Amino acid sequence: MVNDFTNRIKITEISQSPEWSPKRKHMTLNSFIAKTSEEKRYKEYISEHLDDWYLFFGAPGTGKTHLSTAIAKAQWEKDKMKEVKVVKFRYIGAEVREDFAREREVIKLYSNVDILIIEEVGKGYNSEFEIQLLFDIIDTRDEYSKQTIITTNMTQSEFVKLIGKPTASRLLSIATPVILTGKDHRQG
Ligand SMILES: Nc1ncnc2c1ncn2[C@@H]1O[C@H](COP(=O)(O)OP(=O)(O)OP(=O)(O)O)[C@@H](O)[C@H]1O
Ligand SMILES: [Mg+2]
Repeated sequence: MVNDFTNRIKITEISQSPEWSPKRKHMTLNSFIAKTSEEKRYKEYISEHLDDWYLFFGAPGTGKTHLSTAIAKAQWEKDKMKEVKVVKFRYIGAEVREDFAREREVIKLYSNVDILIIEEVGKGYNSEFEIQLLFDIIDTRDEYSKQTIITTNMTQSEFVKLIGKPTASRLLSIATPVILTGKDHRQG
């Protein structure tokens, strides 16, 4: 059965090729405009630490998707064999809820890819089930040192509250948190 969810997953998923969606085509480190000293600082840090895990916090339009995509592109340029996937947090849960027999398969899918960008954490149902899935994936990725990038509109404290202190502190010890403070670029 091909339903609406499956279609959306296909649109948001990028794998094995530099065929980025039109929305992401222009997103590179070079095209990220850093005006404030803070923006300059994190742009420079990211350019010099492309292998880091990142946790991007910030309001809508501040460049979280832009920088995540730019990192994955730069990584892909270094090593063309790198497989990249982008998925929205809520779609992981939705994918499993469609067929619970596929839970392990879904976890494996997102655990194995070389670079995973999980977008919009906090915009799902934020159920225990979704949080558990997120951490099964992150835990496996940590075990195999596979780069993971997370974006969220939540503040750091909301994020910690959502995923729980023990797991959050673990994730924050692996990933570099970056709080994007620029303007909403969608407003021009
Ligand atoms: N500093 C920047 N320089 C150039 N373009 C930017 C910058 N920040 C954002 N943009 C552009 O603005 C648009 C929105 O940015 P982006 O999608 O990265 O926002 P976001 O932080 O992921 O927002 P949301 O929380 O709504 O997902 C994109 O087209 C992006 O390329
Ligand atoms: Mg985004």
